[in-house]
Amino acid sequence: MRTDSSPQTIFRKDYLPPSYLVDTVELGFDLDPARTIVASRVTLRHNPASKSRDIVLHGEALELVQLRLNGKTLRPGQYELSGSTLTIRKAPLAVVLEIETLTAPVKNTTLSGLYVSNGNFFTQCEAEGFRRITYFPDRPDVMAKYTVMLRADKALYPVLLSNGNLIEQGELGDGRHYAKWEDPFKKPSYLFALVAARLVCQEERYTLQSGREVLLQVWVEEGNLDKTDYAMQSLKNSIRWDEQRFGLELDLDRFMIVAVGDFNMGAMENKGLNIFNTKFVLANSRVATDIDYAGIEAVVGHEYFHNWTGNRVTCRDWFQLSLKEGLTVFRDQEFSADMIGTDSGRAVTRIDQVRTLRQAQFPEDAGPMAHPVRPDSFVEINNFYTVTIYEKGAEVVRMYQTLLGRDGFRKGMDLYFERHDGQAVECDDFRAAMADANGRDLGQFERWYSQAGTPVVRAETNYDAIARTFDITLRQHCPASAGQEHKLPFHIPVAVGLLGADGRDLALSTDAKDRQGQATVVLELTGEEQTFRFHDIAERPTPSILRDFSAPVVLEYDYTDAELLHLFSHDSDPVNRWEAGQRLAMERLLKLTTAVATGKPLALDATFIAAQRALLVDETLDPAFRELALILPSETIIAEQMEVVEPQAIHSARQFMRRTLAAALKPELLAQYHANQTPGAYSPDALSAGKRALKNLALSYLLIAPQEAELALARQQFAEAGNMTDRAAALVALIHSGAEVGEHLHSFYQDFEHEALVVDKWFAMQAAAPGTDVAAVRKLMEHPAFTLKNPNRARSLIFNFTNGNPSQFHAADGSAYEFWAEHVIKLDALNPQVAARLARSMDRWRRYTPALQAHMQRALERVAAHARLSNDVLEVVSKALA
Ligand code: PHE
Ligand code: ZN
Repeated sequence: MRTDSSPQTIFRKDYLPPSYLVDTVELGFDLDPARTIVASRVTLRHNPASKSRDIVLHGEALELVQLRLNGKTLRPGQYELSGSTLTIRKAPLAVVLEIETLTAPVKNTTLSGLYVSNGNFFTQCEAEGFRRITYFPDRPDVMAKYTVMLRADKALYPVLLSNGNLIEQGELGDGRHYAKWEDPFKKPSYLFALVAARLVCQEERYTLQSGREVLLQVWVEEGNLDKTDYAMQSLKNSIRWDEQRFGLELDLDRFMIVAVGDFNMGAMENKGLNIFNTKFVLANSRVATDIDYAGIEAVVGHEYFHNWTGNRVTCRDWFQLSLKEGLTVFRDQEFSADMIGTDSGRAVTRIDQVRTLRQAQFPEDAGPMAHPVRPDSFVEINNFYTVTIYEKGAEVVRMYQTLLGRDGFRKGMDLYFERHDGQAVECDDFRAAMADANGRDLGQFERWYSQAGTPVVRAETNYDAIARTFDITLRQHCPASAGQEHKLPFHIPVAVGLLGADGRDLALSTDAKDRQGQATVVLELTGEEQTFRFHDIAERPTPSILRDFSAPVVLEYDYTDAELLHLFSHDSDPVNRWEAGQRLAMERLLKLTTAVATGKPLALDATFIAAQRALLVDETLDPAFRELALILPSETIIAEQMEVVEPQAIHSARQFMRRTLAAALKPELLAQYHANQTPGAYSPDALSAGKRALKNLALSYLLIAPQEAELALARQQFAEAGNMTDRAAALVALIHSGAEVGEHLHSFYQDFEHEALVVDKWFAMQAAAPGTDVAAVRKLMEHPAFTLKNPNRARSLIFNFTNGNPSQFHAADGSAYEFWAEHVIKLDALNPQVAARLARSMDRWRRYTPALQAHMQRALERVAAHARLSNDVLEVVSKALA
């Protein structure tokens, strides 16, 4: 909680090296939920790179019991305590600090620092949670070796875990026991972790490629031991993949994953002791969907890959967060794609990434919280774990690979580790390694890190039939963002292919003599405007621009409908094939939205319907791809295309299109529904998951205006489904159809009331249903299973309503905004990080109709005026209102 009046902005340019470095940290914990004693013994030495001789320690929500410097107790006047810093002035060159503090984990609802979840102890230290455990220079460029002694009641907390290796354990009398852990690697404080809990584990000895044997463990509560297989399998796959793709080996003898039900984020890469939100560990076919399985694989991979990209090489300061996050997201994306293995499977993962960018990152980059991949300032670092840092950061890393090739990228990675293993470095160091390893000048590429906003690339083409040349002119500009009026041109890789009239790729010859005859070439746009010429082009081609989404930009090109239809049916690049379909749909959705808003009649052309039909039944295409290609742009993505957003009109327009397609394609939908069944034992593999996705998309269409036969199909699927994917899909389809849902919701709840993650789904599907208004959400909050204290539960109902149900959230009377304000404030008192995420639902408020804007502004002001706001929420709402 904020204690002084206005929060401080921290600037990247103010970075100073730490005045003291830490060599060793010995921590002793006497664990007790109400009163935990933490004893810390830290050896420090002056950092020659610093002019200051002041030791600066951070501490928050701690009771300081004792502070000793080189054996002598310091009394209050001998150090300064202000806000969250403790300063010892003019310290000796070599210092041993002994610090004793008290905390009350059971009262810690922030889930940062040491806290209790379902009676067990866990820690979360990134970004600045370690300072809630003990006074320490809590910054990532202070790396030290840790030894940790845990003491706790043995019956209540039989399992005592920390980073690294277990070196000693035993009994203490009084029913207490202890365990001593030592981490052989230097690490920053944000990677510290402990767990003291009643848990059980699935474990396995695993042999690395080098022949070394390691112990892998997945720790969960007793009743969940039947849900750990997939996480364990994903961990083994991750280990193998990092060896093969990047030559990176697990550096510890023991690697642990622990699942916890109360967690603010997805998971955390603590050295050797990854702590995970249960959502990304627990799965079996009864409770988890295909999407959950894919999430587990990705997050297990992500955290494992952090061991090198994040832990062995870490960030100098939090402005460099994307150094580890963007790179690690890129690595987990490539891992997931490689696990599917096929080209079309890769493309499906790529399309998903593009959808996330458009749905969440582009709006962020155009809104009040816009920031560069490497921000220049922040108030609260927790607000900067964003889609820009993560997903745009991953796109930036991907562009290196696009520009340098896979081998060139690998050379850059190798050099990065050769230079920086064991160090805390900057984004610039990564870029330098990529450049130096490949003998390339990547100076201009730096702008991807320093300039916010989504660049717009406008393409124009010219075909000269006599000279047989085809010119593509690319122009770039990037809209202004806070503090950045004028942007300089980016270095943008634009992958291009040209389709002939028969739909096939032309063999390309460009002015770049080294790359002839290829189907796709990567044009490098570095100026504001450049023209690229293709030779020997016998006919006017259809350009396929930005293949594989080769850069995180908005591409503008005046495609005709005929060209888009041509691409939609033939483009060899699946991403652009999908993209052509999205463009066709978007054009129509925007016109329909205008028609709804102005009371004009609605219609959908036969050409579009025919194209959708052809795709739906094209058996040469993966079901997973067909499903993606048939999903219409979301209401949020449509809203981003509009000058003034009218959520109800968008909703009606999109519903009209869905209804019309459903009516026109009914026989084909039904046929696909039956053709894509996956009988037999459940398997989460990509092919089966793709079939289920297509089948369930068909079902959702069939239930738009259902007759008895379609209702019966859904009811049957709901009753007989052998897995959660099909069961949940049937229930969602039934809810959306508005048909006798009460009974189904009730039985679903009865079946799964003891599975917290399924209860989350139960809330989530109701929250996002177009029939659920704010009154219904308030009613759901009274359900005994609802609680604001558990982030997954709070998100399942509240976030799925505010972010996933736009037509109800933006109800004309502003009542849902009042609900939003009320819950931002309520949540903030418990958990500022979660509250600040909710606060961001209002980011785009200035783009709505004047009447909605007025309501939104009032709600924002109500939050801003609240007396005791966290810095987290204050930063978000004040930037929104600024
Ligand atoms: N570093 C974690 C990850 O990306 C995310 C995280 C941030 C978790 C802060 C908890 C707190 O894997
Ligand atoms: Zn991460």
